[in-house]
Amino acid sequence: MSEMNRRWVLTRRPDGALKDSDFARADEPLRDLADGEMRVRVTHLSFDPTQRIWISQDSYLPAVPIGAVVRAGAIGQVVASKHADFKPGQMVQGAFGWQDYVQSAGFTELGPITPLPPGVTPEQALGVMGLTSITAWFGVHDLLKPQAGETALVTGAAGATGSAAGQILKAAGARVIGVAGGPDKTRWVVDVAGFDACIDYKNEDVAARIAALAPKGLDMIYENVGGPIFDAALAHLAMKARVALCGAISGYDTGEIYGLKNYMNLVIQRAKIEGFLVLDYFPRVGEAIAGLGALAAAGKLKGEVDLQEGFDNIPATLRRLFEGRNFGKQLLKITDPPLPAA
Ligand SMILES: NC(=O)c1ccc[n+]([C@@H]2O[C@H](COP(=O)([O-])OP(=O)(O)OC[C@H]3O[C@@H](n4cnc5c(N)ncnc54)[C@H](OP(=O)(O)O)[C@@H]3O)[C@@H](O)[C@H]2O)c1
Repeated sequence: MSEMNRRWVLTRRPDGALKDSDFARADEPLRDLADGEMRVRVTHLSFDPTQRIWISQDSYLPAVPIGAVVRAGAIGQVVASKHADFKPGQMVQGAFGWQDYVQSAGFTELGPITPLPPGVTPEQALGVMGLTSITAWFGVHDLLKPQAGETALVTGAAGATGSAAGQILKAAGARVIGVAGGPDKTRWVVDVAGFDACIDYKNEDVAARIAALAPKGLDMIYENVGGPIFDAALAHLAMKARVALCGAISGYDTGEIYGLKNYMNLVIQRAKIEGFLVLDYFPRVGEAIAGLGALAAAGKLKGEVDLQEGFDNIPATLRRLFEGRNFGKQLLKITDPPLPAA
């Protein structure tokens, strides 16, 4: 009997907060490997807020079809190969999705499967050197273009993207204020990530704290959460401020788009707001990796990894992002690599 591939598929378009019943197991036997293909055992999954968009609607990518394996970035190990460029034992990265195995000629729906650089762990490749930090790199350097001495606000500051954005801004000479939920996260943002201050939006008046911490206004906003926090920040723009619109997680799980009240301040302050997607920067990923690597080597880029475990826990792990329960980059380990390294 052939080995089974465990799979989590989407059962319907979620309505409001994610539920267990939005997903179901649909295991199936592995087929034989065709010439030119390799078999990858998925070891680590990345959890990203944008997955909530992918399972809900067509957006910058087509929606995950009902009945299909849930799309996800991942790390895995080649365990069998009839592909000239890949050999068993090699660690690889790709959009492998919520399943144990992928059989492929070298591509997933988001692009080529790529080898992990030697010595790089799955936690590093999906964490502090991963796509969230790469997003932050381009959001800061291509959109915000910080000048030394300017003041920046970063929302979602304890998260993977926000914590990287703040540290990149600090390294560029900016003064950086974070916004995060709860005393543990706000303390980490200042004490470990090195922000100048961090506002606890769950226990403090965000508008009053921004006014006190940035009396001359915000020159830059790196925006991750949307909703009332973003609205409060818009009310405190400095002249010629720049806003990098990276995401708006507060609206993803509710499906409700918050109506901003303070956007006229963009006009009054001659400010600029720009959205962006890291996908468009894939041809320039090498630039970000070089810059992030230099910051990490200098001890100026710190990141936590929140590592959950177990195939059965996959849907519940996605929910952690929208409940603020992840502390750092959310990953899940399905298994350790089964073969010795190539
Ligand atoms: N544009 C792009 O290409 C791109 C690429 C990657 C990520 N992003 C965006 O970056 C943002 C952060 O993503 P990430 O992967 O780094 O996740 P993350 O920040 O590591 O984790 C999500 C965090 O969001 C916060 N959050 C959840 N619900 C919230 C709410 N209602 N109000 C305020 N904060 C809330 C929680 O932190 P607290 O406990 O502090 O509330 C939670 O821990 C998302 O908006 C995502 O879509 C965009």
